Amino acid sequence: MILETLSVFPELFGPYMGASIMGRAQRSGVFSFEAHDLRDWTHDRHRTVDDAPFGGGQGMLMKPEPIFEALDDLCSRPPARPHVVFFSPCGERFCQRTAERLSRHERLLFVCGRYEGTDERVYSLADDVLSIGDYVLTGGELAALVVMDSVVRLLPGALGDEMSAVDESFSAAGLLEYAQYTRPASYRGMDVPEVLLSGDHARVDAWRRASAIERTARWRPDLIESADLTAEERARALELAERGEGD
Ligand code: ADE
Repeated sequence: MILETLSVFPELFGPYMGASIMGRAQRSGVFSFEAHDLRDWTHDRHRTVDDAPFGGGQGMLMKPEPIFEALDDLCSRPPARPHVVFFSPCGERFCQRTAERLSRHERLLFVCGRYEGTDERVYSLADDVLSIGDYVLTGGELAALVVMDSVVRLLPGALGDEMSAVDESFSAAGLLEYAQYTRPASYRGMDVPEVLLSGDHARVDAWRRASAIERTARWRPDLIESADLTAEERARALELAERGEGD
């Protein structure tokens, strides 16, 4: 997969994209990454990318010309036209399903705005406009990093253990992930559930399923309705959610 960003702070991406799992995946050829500087598509001495809004108001907007020209240029480059993603708090809420959909593209280009907003006409260039949540960031770069991280870890070979992307929050049955523990078995008066020490895989699986349901009922009751549950599990989840309890 080819990942690219277009922003006025291209230097923000390197450290994160080159570290840990992202860095290893990049070095082993799972994906390539390039951060483009939007100012490379300006023509004035000051390399201007912003301007005041028509109609008045606070702050500056990203002007359309550098973004249009950058996308004309970048989209025509081989090997494939990129799927173009913009970021805005007004966009569609990003979720695991969208990460899975994006992970199937050969080339993704993330366009990150700054300032108080972007001239509306540039959104005509977007294949997706995404928000990473109901809060306002100073720019789209963090949103792009969030989306790229969640997409890369879905790519074959990105995680050492091929299974670990499957059996976790949101992927398995639409539930939050079950509680996990490592050594020591007893710490500061808190004991690891006995069943996890038992070596009985069937009991461990049943405990993990119940833990996932309880945590979802407690922390994300909104997920219960669409989760893949038996009638009995759903009734228990709804009862826990109503009581505001759970693990
Ligand atoms: N830009 C500013 N805030 C944002 C958000 N919440 N999601 C995506 N892009 C943004």
